[in-house]
Amino acid sequence: MSLSKINPSTTESWKKLHDHFNQLKPQHLKTLFKENPQRAKAFSIHFGDFFVDYSKNRITEETLSLLLELADEVKLKEAISQYFKGENINETEDRAVLHTALRAKISDSIFVNGKNIVPEVYEVRDKIKAFSERIISGNTKGYSGKAFTDVVNIGIGGSDLGPVMVTEALKFYKNHLNVHFVSNVDGDHVHETLKGLNPETTLFVIVSKSFTTQETLSNALTIKKWFLENASEKDVAKHFVAVSTNLKKIDEFGISSENVFPMWDWVGGRFSLWSAVGLSIALSIGHQNFEELLDGAHEMDIHFKETPFSENLPVILGLLTVWYNNFFGAETEAIIPYSQYLHRFSAYLQQGIMESNGKSKDRAGNSVSHETGTIIWGEPGTNSQHAFFQLIHQGTKLIPTDFIGFKESLHGDVEHHKKLMANFFAQTEALMNGKTEEEVKSELEQQGVGPEKLDTILPFKVFEGNKPTTTLLINKLTPKNLGALIALYEHRIFVQGVIWNIFSYDQWGVELGKQLAKNILADLENSEIGRHDSSTMQLLQFFKG
Ligand code: F6P
Repeated sequence: MSLSKINPSTTESWKKLHDHFNQLKPQHLKTLFKENPQRAKAFSIHFGDFFVDYSKNRITEETLSLLLELADEVKLKEAISQYFKGENINETEDRAVLHTALRAKISDSIFVNGKNIVPEVYEVRDKIKAFSERIISGNTKGYSGKAFTDVVNIGIGGSDLGPVMVTEALKFYKNHLNVHFVSNVDGDHVHETLKGLNPETTLFVIVSKSFTTQETLSNALTIKKWFLENASEKDVAKHFVAVSTNLKKIDEFGISSENVFPMWDWVGGRFSLWSAVGLSIALSIGHQNFEELLDGAHEMDIHFKETPFSENLPVILGLLTVWYNNFFGAETEAIIPYSQYLHRFSAYLQQGIMESNGKSKDRAGNSVSHETGTIIWGEPGTNSQHAFFQLIHQGTKLIPTDFIGFKESLHGDVEHHKKLMANFFAQTEALMNGKTEEEVKSELEQQGVGPEKLDTILPFKVFEGNKPTTTLLINKLTPKNLGALIALYEHRIFVQGVIWNIFSYDQWGVELGKQLAKNILADLENSEIGRHDSSTMQLLQFFKG
């Protein structure tokens, strides 16, 4: 069964939310806190090692209840059940959306076209285990009899961003293998990576769901050529493995069938790190840690599937995005992890969120009458405070921001961690409270600033505050907690897509650029340039000339 096709803006709750928004808009968060001493408690959720405080958002009990009404009106509950059951909710590609099956328990049964897919998932999980253990232990060796020291993941988009983000995030848990990533078709990327590598001790993992992606195939061929400068064709089987659904193309590339890790069309690229796409993760942190990552995600799946909406993290966070995006007109959201290990987290979520929900046709094929996908950006704190926080504090745009922090640091440097977290808490407080004219005035007077200078400088030092933030405080950055955190955002994407009445699991928009690049490549290779607009034409002439 397909997802319902309800235009959210025609629902009763949407209309009520509009009226409610007009009343709430002028209210300051400080007032809302004063009015309700229970506010912090009322707008917080505990889940495992997570404590999520969303009380610093511009909402009241009424907002929440109207947003929950909206979730009911668009049939979110039914949609969640369709998602987990493996119904073909990716209607435009006629597929199920089952990344959740990749972290299911072995005792679970999930059916696709009448077949339980959990046993196949576990077959691949076992294969990942056996393979990664053999490489890490050094039992499997390269063509010259030496153990592997380096792994290169060749992939792009979902076949790169997830593995990069997770291997960076869990670097603390890594073993002796050095993992590298080649994604860009920019030859400088691949050649720079190969520069320091020894073909005798390097394993190459080609990851491409389709095995037709230009960037990945070009990089794989360049690497194979480099490899064959030292090794022979028969050695390819020892050094190259592939993860894909396209077994025919893998065979053509010369990879032996035992080195192939299958994946399935019911896993979208941007949700695939839980599959063999995450092989480089298992190689980097070991199979046990990889399994814990999956377990954490599974726990979030259960939470999402079974918890009442008022206590359900992905639902609440998804609804908050709708509130800001569709009523406040906020176009972007910032995601700021206070952990250097999570420095690729926002980049990873950019694909997850923007490729999924950057759609302008509704599920009936009509143009949407409301805003959809938010623009996602961010960098770790505290660095980001010294870069772009000025705009969040005093700019003209409303930017709802997620703050993600950990109670414990991994290296255990308590002094550093206290300073880091002091900034973490201070920022959300400052964004909410701001600084009034009176406060600035008395501060300046205390500093002995004279009345004339005081009047001149005063307006620039006033902070309006009232900037919404959500705080995700997690015990520790463990594989399990990271798994749960990623799954939380995955389900938040789902919630938003259902409410916006769009298809979140296709990505037709990226195809046009790919097609045109093929035509232009021919123009660059041939002496004649084909027909283009005059701007593209002059650029091509300049490039070739
Ligand atoms: O850019 C579009 C896209 O299809 C992404 O969705 C995907 O993650 C990426 O390209 C890579 O695709 P593949 O794994 O098939 O090489």
